[in-house]
Amino acid sequence: MKVCVVGATGAVGRKMIEVLLEREFPLTELSLFASERSSGKRLAFGDKEITVQKLEHTSGKGIDIALFSAGASISREFAPYFAKDGAVVIDNSSAFRMDTDVPLVVPEVNSEDIAWHSGIIANPNCCAIPMVVALSPLHKKAGIKRIVASTYQSVSGAGQKGIEELKAQLQEIIQPKAFSCQIAFNIVPHIDSFLENGYTKEEAKIIEEAKKILHSDFGITITAVRVPVFVGHSESVNVEFDKPLTEKEAKDILGSAEGVVVMDDPDQLKYPYPLMTEGRDEVFVGRIRQDFSVPGNYALNLWIVADNLRKGAATNAVQIAEKLT
Ligand SMILES: NC(=O)c1ccc[n+]([C@@H]2O[C@H](COP(=O)([O-])OP(=O)(O)OC[C@H]3O[C@@H](n4cnc5c(N)ncnc54)[C@H](OP(=O)(O)O)[C@@H]3O)[C@@H](O)[C@H]2O)c1
Repeated sequence: MKVCVVGATGAVGRKMIEVLLEREFPLTELSLFASERSSGKRLAFGDKEITVQKLEHTSGKGIDIALFSAGASISREFAPYFAKDGAVVIDNSSAFRMDTDVPLVVPEVNSEDIAWHSGIIANPNCCAIPMVVALSPLHKKAGIKRIVASTYQSVSGAGQKGIEELKAQLQEIIQPKAFSCQIAFNIVPHIDSFLENGYTKEEAKIIEEAKKILHSDFGITITAVRVPVFVGHSESVNVEFDKPLTEKEAKDILGSAEGVVVMDDPDQLKYPYPLMTEGRDEVFVGRIRQDFSVPGNYALNLWIVADNLRKGAATNAVQIAEKLT
């Protein structure tokens, strides 16, 4: 199986290469594409080195699976050429996620949607993925009525330039470029551009994508916040259900849910946080507790953390690719 990574030199692209190797993806050939700037660079794949090529409209010829992670405008321009040439594109950007003829897939939740792809499968937003992995088993049991959540998103969510900016500002406070204001020693309630309704595009993505993946039209409102953490997105999630669901029932359900690790023991000060989830593929859930402001055990609070470069991006994409082999 011939595989390629488009955006191979980026934060997610590099992680995709690592994850393909770690999971021993059954590939016979790996090609790497990026912009002209990176053409000729060599990236390691195990004990081999692969030369990065400039992305062209014809780069998809002979490719079976193309993992795209070079931003939405590149996906919009190039993915249709790859699909026309016979590759299945698994796209990490927001370009096609809400298209009605493109499945939006988290394998633990809706792998059955892969079946109706017509050349492009979308990989969801890096906060939508952990949210639905944790909430899908609870939704099956009690039906989600409404979600109120705030996200605490690391700088790697803004790509390599976000990582470099926080590193630099920890040495000396340089002018912000990747973010709208200083990110070191600060938090910024703004990710992606603002929409006319006062939400940001990032917030709108999480809202729409969670409903599309879970095939349900519950109420959901999000505030997305950038925090000075290198890797790992956290989410404080309040969920109201159609049927009662106790803290104990939720812990039992999540304890046996695919892809979820419950880490919730306040007596032992055990709860997930970004530093401990870095490099892991599971979605970590802690601080599970009843929301007593809603009578009758109809609401819960959860704290969800996952590595945004892995389960939030690269690992989820490779898991989709594995379903195609
Ligand atoms: N970071 C995350 O946590 C995360 C999570 C989920 C989804 N995503 C999505 O994944 C995509 C990539 O994000 P990232 O964080 O990896 O960004 P990044 O670190 O900025 O990497 C961008 C990649 O795109 C390539 N690229 C830029 N312009 C190009 C062009 N004209 N032709 C071909 N390649 C080009 C870059 O190549 P050069 O090195 O040559 O410039 C680089 O490899 C975005 O759509 C993002 O929304 C990111």
